[in-house]
Amino acid sequence: TLTIQESEKGFCTVNGEIVNNHEGYSGTGFVDTANAEGASITWKVDVDGGNYDVSVRFANGSTARGATLSSNEINTTYGFATTGDWATWADETHTVSLAAGENTIQLSALTAGGLPNVDAITIAGAGVLAADCA
Ligand code: GCU
Ligand code: CA
Repeated sequence: TLTIQESEKGFCTVNGEIVNNHEGYSGTGFVDTANAEGASITWKVDVDGGNYDVSVRFANGSTARGATLSSNEINTTYGFATTGDWATWADETHTVSLAAGENTIQLSALTAGGLPNVDAITIAGAGVLAADCA
């Protein structure tokens, strides 16, 4: 099982900034994306291949901010319901198919609000490694 925090190996790009202005995050902070449809975060991991439970830890003080998690042209929808306020964090987990070897995982906002604040991503299982982004 691998958890990737902001600015760690495997954390690749973000449309937004890394901040720490709400409590309850893990690591050194969290990602606050731009409030725009298509605002995204990408990660890169190296796996044996198969189905993996992918958890996104997030806070959403607004209304639901759905997003598409895509890898290898397979899309999985995350609902990202409100958590009530920006300091209350929750995990949303879905099973995602990943190919053997390196996979770029992109989380892309479906609404004009952008993504919720994102603390970390966790990919469950054995043999999951962070990959170099380049
Ligand atoms: C507030 C909040 C931010 C959040 C933003 C948003 O400004 O402080 O942490 O990212 O709302 O609506 O996305
Ligand atoms: Ca934001």
